[in-house]
Amino acid sequence: MAKASFDPQEFRSALSTFTTGVTIITTRAENGDPVGITANSFNSVSLNPPMVLWSLDKSAMSLPSFTNNKHWNVHILSSEQEALSGRFASRGEDKFKGLDLEPGMNNIPLLRNCTARFNCRTAFIYEGGDHMIFVGEVLGFDKTDLPPLAFQSGLYALAARKPREGVQLSAAPTPECSYTEDLLGYLAGRAHFQMVATLQNVLKSQQLNEQQFFILSVLSIQDSLTLEEINQFVEYTGGAISAEDMASLIEQEHVVLVKKNGDSRYVLTANGRDASLKQIAVAKAVEEQIAKQIGHGDAEALKILLKRVIKATDLGLPDLWATKEENNAKKTAS
Ligand SMILES: Cc1cc2nc3c(=O)[nH]c(=O)nc-3n(C[C@H](O)[C@H](O)[C@H](O)COP(=O)(O)O)c2cc1C
Repeated sequence: MAKASFDPQEFRSALSTFTTGVTIITTRAENGDPVGITANSFNSVSLNPPMVLWSLDKSAMSLPSFTNNKHWNVHILSSEQEALSGRFASRGEDKFKGLDLEPGMNNIPLLRNCTARFNCRTAFIYEGGDHMIFVGEVLGFDKTDLPPLAFQSGLYALAARKPREGVQLSAAPTPECSYTEDLLGYLAGRAHFQMVATLQNVLKSQQLNEQQFFILSVLSIQDSLTLEEINQFVEYTGGAISAEDMASLIEQEHVVLVKKNGDSRYVLTANGRDASLKQIAVAKAVEEQIAKQIGHGDAEALKILLKRVIKATDLGLPDLWATKEENNAKKTAS
């Protein structure tokens, strides 16, 4: 286990398995310029008196500012602040350019939209090898419900919470899962059908089925498609769409058939666009409701994982959100 001398890279890599949040720590230089760095060495020290710590590389350009100015703010970044973390992890450039700051205590810059923020005053500075350790007394703090950004093995991450026996993470208790219910395909399928149950009611009121919902959704993103192109976008659902299926959408005045350069292309009518917008609004409302129940952070983590599953099982279908030219280029390249 213990080694007499370490490979620095391996040591760093082992340390990075310790999953942390990400903070930006700000202060002001002697000339009044705002100063800030990204740091994940932040930790709590004491509740009473309230104290925190973090460590700063001795080679950091901001070192003189943090040793001269006793006041600094710690910002626990929210999951959407990855770009801000990147900006403050760069050296020298004007990291605050264009940022909308809040006036902070002692004129120390305060960043917005964070998960939590602490106003601190240096209590002690210790030397710790190639870093200086700042221990601060907490003078004030605030907190939001925004899910925090995490950092793990050199990559940004999201903190998806694991259920603990007897502790409810959300209004609905985590179900006991039998073996079968632990199959990913079953879980993804069941989640899909349960989520679209509300949408089904809307479709029923619009006298549309799920397949027609898919067609209208595709046309609302990429209008004016041939039957073959529509089929490419919905191929993953397993059911091919025929000209008869399209004829019923034409009859319901959701779609019209337009002849263009020798091709027959389906185009959404205003009626069809309205129906699709209503469906999308319902789908969004269902999603918001689920995010509220399971937590926005967990919902975001779930989306990332599902995107990875979709990529891992990609059938080589065209990208619905890419332009036709981009999709053609992808097709020729493969
Ligand atoms: C996620 C993350 C965490 C970091 N944590 C620290 C840290 O705790 N201490 C540190 O000195 N540098 C840390 N860094 C690196 C600094 O943010 C980086 O060196 C920055 O350029 C320093 O800015 P400065 O030279 O302008 O002071 C971290 C970088 C990232 C991306």
